[in-house]
Amino acid sequence: MSSYAIEILAKGHDRAGFVSGLESVDRYLWATARGHQEKGISVTRVLVNVEEAPPKTVVGFFTLSNITVSASDWPGAPGRLPKQAVAAVLLGRLAVAKASQNLGIGSMLVASARQLARETILLTGGVGLVVDAANEAVIGFYSRFGFRPVAAASLRMFLPAASLETGARIQRDE
Ligand SMILES: CC(C)(COP(=O)(O)OP(=O)(O)OC[C@H]1O[C@@H](n2cnc3c(N)ncnc32)[C@H](O)[C@@H]1OP(=O)(O)O)[C@@H](O)C(=O)NCCC(=O)NCCS
Repeated sequence: MSSYAIEILAKGHDRAGFVSGLESVDRYLWATARGHQEKGISVTRVLVNVEEAPPKTVVGFFTLSNITVSASDWPGAPGRLPKQAVAAVLLGRLAVAKASQNLGIGSMLVASARQLARETILLTGGVGLVVDAANEAVIGFYSRFGFRPVAAASLRMFLPAASLETGARIQRDE
């Protein structure tokens, strides 16, 4: 039986073979994710079959980074935030390979991102998890997990720290 795990993006992962159908996200994994990781800009995690010989097929991936946001009028944000921007975790990219979509993998990756965001916020603070939906269609997907647009017609969505529950623990090899 195959054994899948979420790993931090590394050389042995087949970035070039990944296709989700949304080219801007795919291009990020092909060309940018490793460079950003090496520079400390963000961390990308990939879902792979741990038993597969490298280069391992990337079944799905997501990218997290730290950002600062002016969140005082965002839905669910704490009251009386300071005027200056405050810390948050950004789920910058998320995608599942075309052949593996609609199997619950995207939802599992969101659960993992939520868990990591919660741990980060517990360690260093932060008002919540932010996601930039790629288009209007994806807003429905993120809404399922409690994210709300930060303003009318905005593709930026927010899940307050208080709503980041631990959820099911997902195996990670780190
Ligand atoms: C969006 C994406 C990550 C969802 O991953 P997935 O593994 O297919 O999603 P899941 O199987 O976990 O879907 C969970 C539910 O969300 C729904 N859903 C999936 N994609 C959706 C979308 N784009 N919009 C609205 N709902 C969506 C599914 O129908 C499913 O509903 P159900 O539980 O009633 O059957 C995936 O379709 C993808 O990679 N798309 C291309 C890249 C992309 O758009 N990324 C988002 C960038 S912000």
